[in-house]
Amino acid sequence: MNAEFHINGKIIETQRLVLRPFGKTDLEDFYEYASVEGTGEMAGWHHHENREKSSQILDLFITEDKTFAVCLKESGKVIGSLGVEKYGMEEKLTEFDGYRGREIGYVLSQDYWGRGLMPEAVSAVVDYLFNECDMDFLTCGYYDFNSRSKRVQEKCGFVPYRKLIMDTRMGTKEPGVLNILINPKKNIRFNFSHPETLIYGQTV
Ligand SMILES: CC(C)(COP(=O)(O)OP(=O)(O)OC[C@H]1O[C@@H](n2cnc3c(N)ncnc32)[C@H](O)[C@@H]1OP(=O)(O)O)[C@@H](O)C(=O)NCCC(=O)NCCS
Repeated sequence: MNAEFHINGKIIETQRLVLRPFGKTDLEDFYEYASVEGTGEMAGWHHHENREKSSQILDLFITEDKTFAVCLKESGKVIGSLGVEKYGMEEKLTEFDGYRGREIGYVLSQDYWGRGLMPEAVSAVVDYLFNECDMDFLTCGYYDFNSRSKRVQEKCGFVPYRKLIMDTRMGTKEPGVLNILINPKKNIRFNFSHPETLIYGQTV
């Protein structure tokens, strides 16, 4: 089942980053990276064509309180987001009944790709969710065309779980892979449902 989650003022520091809740004053930084074509599209959403769009999404980030702003420690600049989302198909994935989990989603400004920053952010959030929030499992997905995101998930220990056709926020459907990470501190053995899409533990 989906675990309750709110950032609730939590701040996570890594070597190079600070992860914190979004605020109204983040609009310019957010718009700067969200308006660049080819960033959001890799995550299934259209780049922002104006500040109004960024402002609407920023308001959601603030009210829903489940998306961390990924900030450079040295300058405070917001260079990305990391959401602790609800995983989908909760009623179909019956193996998760009685276990607490969420889905990780992330986007980084193109200017900062290739420096290992998102793996650093994801690893820190995974650590927080497993060790302080006591979650049992996390999922994280990527579209087949997104080899960069696949690498982030591999580097953070996620393993292939299901092949799925996933909806995008642009109204299209894309084949992709949903990965899973089970809290290593817990001795969990899932009795997986829907074997037709299951690829648990296989290399893809
Ligand atoms: C996916 C994303 C978060 C990766 O973040 P990152 O901090 O750059 O991650 P890394 O530095 O670990 O790079 C990951 C892989 O991307 C590739 N890569 C990195 N920089 C690249 C660049 N400038 N051009 C092409 N490929 C690049 C490399 O293969 C790298 O893997 P490697 O370290 O094994 O060589 C970032 O590319 C991004 O925001 N993409 C758009 C949004 C998105 O895809 N979100 C995820 C949706 S599932």
